[in-house]
Amino acid sequence: MATFFLHFSVFLALYIITRHFLNKIRNFPPSPFPSLPIIGHLYLLKKPIYRTVLSKISSKHGPVILLQLGSRRQLVVSSPSIAEECFTKNDVVFANRPGYLIAKHLAYNTTGLLWAPYGDHWRNLRRIVSIEVLSAYRLQMLSSIRLEEVRSMICVLFRNQNQIVDMKTVFFELTLNIMMRMIAGKRYYGEDVSDVEEAKRFRAIHAETLLLGGKTIIGDYVPWIKSKKMLKRVIECHLKSDSFMQYLIEEQRRKILETDCCGEKKRNLIQVLLSLQENEPGYYTDDIIKGIMLVLLLAGTDTSSATMEWALSLLLNHPRVLEKAQREIDEHIGHDRLMDEGDLAQLPYLRSILNETLRMYPPAPLLIPHESSEECLVGGFRIPRGTMLSVNMWAIQNDPKIWPDPTKFRPERFDNPEGARDGFKLMPFGHGRRSCPGEGLALKVVGLALGSLLQCFKWQKISDKMVDMTEGPGFTSTKAQPLEAI
Ligand code: HEM
Repeated sequence: MATFFLHFSVFLALYIITRHFLNKIRNFPPSPFPSLPIIGHLYLLKKPIYRTVLSKISSKHGPVILLQLGSRRQLVVSSPSIAEECFTKNDVVFANRPGYLIAKHLAYNTTGLLWAPYGDHWRNLRRIVSIEVLSAYRLQMLSSIRLEEVRSMICVLFRNQNQIVDMKTVFFELTLNIMMRMIAGKRYYGEDVSDVEEAKRFRAIHAETLLLGGKTIIGDYVPWIKSKKMLKRVIECHLKSDSFMQYLIEEQRRKILETDCCGEKKRNLIQVLLSLQENEPGYYTDDIIKGIMLVLLLAGTDTSSATMEWALSLLLNHPRVLEKAQREIDEHIGHDRLMDEGDLAQLPYLRSILNETLRMYPPAPLLIPHESSEECLVGGFRIPRGTMLSVNMWAIQNDPKIWPDPTKFRPERFDNPEGARDGFKLMPFGHGRRSCPGEGLALKVVGLALGSLLQCFKWQKISDKMVDMTEGPGFTSTKAQPLEAI
């Protein structure tokens, strides 16, 4: 038995070493040693991976590294120039997404915008979402929804003056109400919610979907591990979410039949999509419509509310910045009226605060994984077809060689905001074909909400201690401890 183990160990060591050197001969990017049989480098990944593991590996092996995660190869990039190479010269090659199990089971067999493979279907979805939901024209038309929701948040806070408020919940409810009103014309939080049970059901489904969206399913990397328990949970969640979305569609179908509700300007997203379905029922199936609704609800809520929470936390820890932002608002708007979105262009310091928040705490620290559709060269290395790409935006945006004193919250570094975009060194919304189509909406919502909070209230921490800025483990970077403030 002992001889068997000795032989087996020698064989294993030879296998690992040979594979490592073969990768060098094949001109693949550097890779940490060892990559174990079957699991590869999976043993290295501990959360939050962008900050700990990946940044450490990159500082040892350079800005382009190749990991073997079970059966998948992953390219990790952590320099602006290499990121630029991926999203300009190789943008089409990396415009695919990996076919994760979660995308298959939660996102209608990867037919939703976020996980759809690059091609005609994705292009069409992107066009619909860009024109019907997120175009400048549409955003302008729906600006009253954002204003009303922000004002409603202010009223709720006004009634809670001098009390400790859970701001994580406040921000989350705000963004979800805005998205839901754009999609289905209804809100699920606040005072005039008509169907409390329906709202409760939706909130439970949404929370579970977000939670599962942030999980790693081991079967994605080691296919013969079936991850049955996890998949069962994912499928159950999908069934609940699917029947809820279907219910919303049927409700809008009835409304269209019953009333003449669909004047061009007043139409919500479901009504727009149902009218497209009338002309092209074979393409705009209910599943496609539900996929679009789901992706907007998922991609558009957590990211924006997390940004608001990080921004207010940073301001509470830096009272002088907070006061300076309030002075700017007072000077430009005064005390006779509440701010609106039109004021945002006149508030450069508020915009710098948002930039600095997104630099230090990008909600998608590794962007969303891309996948190469053919072989290409990155940083002079050969990248095989089917390699996943993660750009470590957190590492780039917190690199002391690029950003002096990166751990210091200093909005003044954006006094010249044009310069910040140079060389792909600030890219919280990604770049290129798969970049975030919701950037315009997000900046409006976050800017208006944060500006209004600063205009209307004096803010205090709940104790003398600094607000804890530890990051939680999820897919988007959120605070581990929900922000409470007075
Ligand atoms: C602060 C807020 C937000 C941040 C930081 C953010 C960031 C991002 C990032 C980094 C990506 C992936 C880019 C890549 O893969 O290279 C992305 C994709 C996406 N975002 Fe956002 N996002 C935000 C808000 C929103 C909002 C409000 C919406 C819509 C209502 C939205 C919709 C999407 C969609 C649909 C995609 C997938 C695009 C595709 O694959 O073609 N996001 N976002």
